Amino acid sequence: MRVSATLVSAMETFDVLVIGGGPAGYVAAIRASQLGLKTACVDAFTRDGKPSLGGTCLNVGCIPSKAMLDSSEKFEMITHEATEHGIQVQGATVDLSKTLARKKGVVDKLTSGIAYLFKKNKVTSYYGLGQLLRQDGDAWIVSVSQEGAADTEVKAKNVIVATGSNPRELPLAPFGGNVVENSGALAFEQVPGKLGVIGAGVIGLELGSVWRRLGAQVTILEAMPSFLAAADDAVAKEALKQFQKQGLNFHFGVNISRVEQTSAGVSVTYAENGQETTAQFDKLIISIGRVPNTGGLGAQNVGLALDERGFVKVDPHYRTNLSGVYAIGDVIGGAMLAHKAEEEGVALAEMIAGQAGHVNYDVIPWVIYTSPEIAWAGLTEKAAKERGLNVRTGQFPFSANGRALGHGDPRGFVKVIADAQTDKILGVHMIGPNVSELIGETVAVMEFGGSSEDLGRTIHAHPTLSEVVKEAALAVEKHAIHM
Ligand code: FAD
Ligand code: NAI
Repeated sequence: MRVSATLVSAMETFDVLVIGGGPAGYVAAIRASQLGLKTACVDAFTRDGKPSLGGTCLNVGCIPSKAMLDSSEKFEMITHEATEHGIQVQGATVDLSKTLARKKGVVDKLTSGIAYLFKKNKVTSYYGLGQLLRQDGDAWIVSVSQEGAADTEVKAKNVIVATGSNPRELPLAPFGGNVVENSGALAFEQVPGKLGVIGAGVIGLELGSVWRRLGAQVTILEAMPSFLAAADDAVAKEALKQFQKQGLNFHFGVNISRVEQTSAGVSVTYAENGQETTAQFDKLIISIGRVPNTGGLGAQNVGLALDERGFVKVDPHYRTNLSGVYAIGDVIGGAMLAHKAEEEGVALAEMIAGQAGHVNYDVIPWVIYTSPEIAWAGLTEKAAKERGLNVRTGQFPFSANGRALGHGDPRGFVKVIADAQTDKILGVHMIGPNVSELIGETVAVMEFGGSSEDLGRTIHAHPTLSEVVKEAALAVEKHAIHM
């Protein structure tokens, strides 16, 4: 039963109501509250039948995937790499139920942490589906509905849409049974003998790596003739070499024509170089990108403008076409990354509070948590040249670094791309051990408009992996020391 309009006008009015409790939404809510705005957040996500804040990232994305990557990497280390260090381990096995329970523990801790942060920051939390209903004076009325309970209506002067994204379905292979998206692929109760993956993007590479390390035979089917289009060509080339060496089986330029669920699993028919093949898998992961999630929002009823691909249209201040309604995160497109979503949350909260929020879209780090890891920020060499820029590049391998050799993981390199005239760093691209952590330093230098000389003249502790970053910067001027 709905509360009447008269009663709604009498109800408390929030300064900000955020719809969606993922990285964009929960961060916007916390920041808005820190700035003295009376804030609420409504989120509909459930895990194991219970409300769970944190959105895709904490529940079925960034966090559980990294927990599984770490567990599987430890297993790979023990079974394949320990002997190199003189460590003999016999009969190592994986108890997958414990691996999954550990992953759940990590997720539980972090999602309940958001609930704690909401309490601490006095953000009012609603559970249910938030739907834009109508304007009431200069405020909006949003209904919050949950199955089996009466709708609640919430009034707010500013509404932030942060409803995120959903996995893109392949029309000829709807999700269900042995055809899974990210949630299903993070929860197989047994290691599949044969695992098919459609899409050699970030999810395909990360989750394909997890299950290969745990014992699956993994085949990745990719429509494009190559992969990692956004990474520097040198990094993509090295990544393919390393992944193939590990046993990931890639097919590029494929055209999938049929996917059938059988009693034995899933059969996939695809054409490659004009030849049709049918492959049998126990499980099939579909990871072909993500689509904006505006389904439950009431966008049509209130006339919220979406673009041709369904993303909420916003201006540079995250304003939609509806006065007082803003949108951030995956639902507005761009890089579908948690840290991009979070920065938009902070920037928008600050703008609503009358401050000058800002996101620097030129320096967003990307990290792929495979082994070796891949990370980059800024332009690739090719993209810089396409923009008509003259560039100089410096590259330095981990194989010439003492710490990497000590670790027993000297794969990969760091490549710095600088403007030939000004020496300003335009991009940094890495593949190698722990580059997820090394990219941060270069992002900070780029954020301040730093040069390769700035990076090369900065003292880096010895022996550390970070010396490879310094040496790559020195290599721009052709005076790396250890090469
Ligand atoms: P979401 O996290 O999707 O949150 C949106 C929330 O809104 C959800 O809780 C949803 O239930 C809720 N919602 C939707 N509609 C309504 C409604 N009408 N009413 C109420 N609530 C609603 N990014 C990284 O940066 N690093 C990584 O390592 C990484 N790994 C990933 C791994 C996987 C497997 C996947 C799938 C994604 C990964 N991502 C990663 C991407 C990252 O998860 C997203 O970019 C990020 O979650 C986007 O945040 P968001 O707040 O915009 O949306
Ligand atoms: P993606 O966009 O990274 O890759 C999709 C791949 O599928 C592309 O290579 C594309 O060419 C291919 N493809 C599309 N249609 C196809 C078809 N019909 N047949 C075969 N191949 C096809 O998308 P993915 O992997 O689903 O991930 C979604 C997003 O989630 C990422 O883009 C990223 O934003 C985010 N993410 C980020 C992570 C990180 O930061 N480490 C980890 C995982 C996801």
